[in-house]
Amino acid sequence: MNMKKVCIVGASGKLGQYMVQHALDRGYEVVGVCRERSVGKLDAFKGRITVIPGATNDREAIKKAVAGCDGVLTVLVPWGVHQYSSGTAQAVLDHARPDARLIFSCGWHITMDGQDVYSWTSRAVVKAFGWLGRLARAVDIDDQVEACRRVFASDTLWTVVRGSDLEEGESQGLPVWSRHVGDPILESNITRRVDFALFMVEALENDELIHEAPAIVGCQAPSALANNTVS
Ligand SMILES: NC(=O)c1ccc[n+]([C@@H]2O[C@H](COP(=O)([O-])OP(=O)(O)OC[C@H]3O[C@@H](n4cnc5c(N)ncnc54)[C@H](OP(=O)(O)O)[C@@H]3O)[C@@H](O)[C@H]2O)c1
Repeated sequence: MNMKKVCIVGASGKLGQYMVQHALDRGYEVVGVCRERSVGKLDAFKGRITVIPGATNDREAIKKAVAGCDGVLTVLVPWGVHQYSSGTAQAVLDHARPDARLIFSCGWHITMDGQDVYSWTSRAVVKAFGWLGRLARAVDIDDQVEACRRVFASDTLWTVVRGSDLEEGESQGLPVWSRHVGDPILESNITRRVDFALFMVEALENDELIHEAPAIVGCQAPSALANNTVS
């Protein structure tokens, strides 16, 4: 498909703002959705994107925002707001054009087929669970799981991008990925947030990622450099 217009759901967050920039860099027309009180976080893009204020699980706001879009990039919010992630995913699944490319973000803790291996002895995984532990105090993790369950079950053209631990910093290039956590290529468990966003935006035009849930890691991470094949 010739990608022209994309919607970014959760545009005001850190990941969202990076995705806006990458989408503009590719010449896409961008529509962003974010909570009313967060609209100011998108001031840097004023005049270059259309902003629809609203909760991302507001079905009417999503319907308006995704109209006519060839692709939708959705941040599945990890924070504990009741049915926020699953409501967001459902609104996108229901209202996006049936032929639109849908890209969702989440973390490694999501599993599509139960084949991910979370080794308790691996330092990387302990780190990942540390992140989960921190989240667990404020978060409705189960709702992100539910959101992804609905995406996996849908017959839309979806990709679920599963992020490792994240860090800020300059882009290092497109992350590498594996179908399963536990693959040695992922062991370093670190990705620049700007590159997570890059992977999401690149996925819009990569049909090989349709119905995949790639687990990603920075292309310069030691484990990526040591194991540079996709399995
Ligand atoms: N952080 C990590 O280390 C990590 C690791 C793996 C995967 N991920 C995944 O990466 C994605 C983005 O994560 P991030 O950490 O980089 O966060 P982020 O980009 O800063 O995004 C946080 C999002 O949550 C929204 N939000 C925050 N509090 C909210 C509330 N009370 N009600 C509704 N929305 C709220 C923010 O909207 P506002 O701008 O309106 O506040 C923003 O869109 C997520 O899908 C996450 O699962 C993160």
